[in-house]
Amino acid sequence: MTDEIRKITEKLIRRRALTVAEYERLLTERDAELYEILKAEAIRLRHRIYGNKIFIRGLIEISSFCKNDCFYCGIRRSNSNCERYRLTPEEILSCCENGYTLGFRTFVLQGGEDAFFGDDLLCELIKTIKEKYPDCAVTLSLGERSEDSYKRLFEAGADRYLLRHETADNGHYARLHPENMSFENRKNCLEVLKKTGYQTGCGMMVGSPFQTYKALAQDLKFIEEFQPDMCGIGPFISHKYTPFKSEKNGDAELTCFLLALVRIIKPDILLPATTALGTIAENGRKQAIEASANVVMPNLSPLDVRSKYSLYDNKLHSGSESADNLNSLKKAMKEIGYEIVCDRGDIIKQKEN
Ligand code: 5AD
Repeated sequence: MTDEIRKITEKLIRRRALTVAEYERLLTERDAELYEILKAEAIRLRHRIYGNKIFIRGLIEISSFCKNDCFYCGIRRSNSNCERYRLTPEEILSCCENGYTLGFRTFVLQGGEDAFFGDDLLCELIKTIKEKYPDCAVTLSLGERSEDSYKRLFEAGADRYLLRHETADNGHYARLHPENMSFENRKNCLEVLKKTGYQTGCGMMVGSPFQTYKALAQDLKFIEEFQPDMCGIGPFISHKYTPFKSEKNGDAELTCFLLALVRIIKPDILLPATTALGTIAENGRKQAIEASANVVMPNLSPLDVRSKYSLYDNKLHSGSESADNLNSLKKAMKEIGYEIVCDRGDIIKQKEN
C-alpha cells in the first residue's frame, strides 16, 4: 500500500467522498492491507449504527415475464427457454402469510417488467398486505414504471423500492442493454422514487461484461451523490441462454471490497449479502457480512416457481437461501457473532454521516 493510497483512504474516511479518479485508484491499486483497513472502518460504522443486527427480507418473485431484453438476464424477453409464470394475488398473499409466521416483517415483491401487474392490481395487493400485516414493510422491485405509477403504489402503502442502476457509465450501460434503455432513464426513475418518498435502493453488478474500474468508480460516485437508502451489489453470473453465456463471472472479493467502500461512503446504508454472491462463493454470505453487509433476503417464493426465476445459472434458492430455513440462517449468523432480527429493519438515518 503506497503513501498516496493511504492518503486517499484517509480522505475517504474523513469526507465520505472522493473524485472518480481517486475511487478508480483505490480499485486498481487495492491490496490485502487496503482491504483490511476498509473492512475495519466499514464494520466500525455499521456497528455504531446497527450493532450486530442483521435484517431479513422475504423475497417473493411474482413474475418471470419481462418486456425487457437486457443482455445479461436469464428472464430477458428473447429467452424462449425461460419458463414463464406469474403468481396470482392469492398465491402472493399466501407467501406473505407463510413469511409472517416464519418471522419476516418485510416482503419484497420482485418481478420482471410484466404489464399484467398493472397499477390497479398492485395497489389492491399492496393495500391488502398492509391491512393484514400493518407491522410489515412492503418493498417493490418491479423495474421502470411511470412517475404516476410509482406515486400510486406509494400511496397504496409500498414503503421501499429497489431498482438497480446496473452501471453508472452511459457507454457501459449501452453495451448491457438494448437501445430502448438508458442510464439517463434509470437515473430519472431513481430520482422520482426518492422524491415520491420511498426508501430507495440502487445497485450494480460487479464484473459484468465490458466493465472497467473506471465504470465501477463512476458507480461509487453515483452512490455518493444519489445517497440511496439501500444498495444491492452482486457479481455478474453468466446465464446459458443469454448473449453473455460465455462471459466470465464477477469476482467475490472485488464485490466485498465494494461493499466496504459503499458502507464508508454512506454509513447508514442497508446492504444486502446478495444471492449472487452466495452462488459464486462457498461462504459468500459470510464474506459479505464481514465486509459490512447487514441484510439477507431469503427466498419466500412458492417452491415450484423458484427454478423458473432464473436470472443467472445455478441461482441458489434452497438451503439457507430459503425462507423456510430461517433457523439455520439464524444459527449460522450467531456463529459469526450476528443476530437476525425480526422487525421491519428500516434504515436508521444518520444526520451526520
Ligand atoms: N448476474 C447477476 N445478476 C443479475 N441480475 C440480472 N441478471 C444477472 C446476472 N446474469 C441482477 C440485475 C437485476 C437484479 C434483479 O438481478 O442487477 O437488477
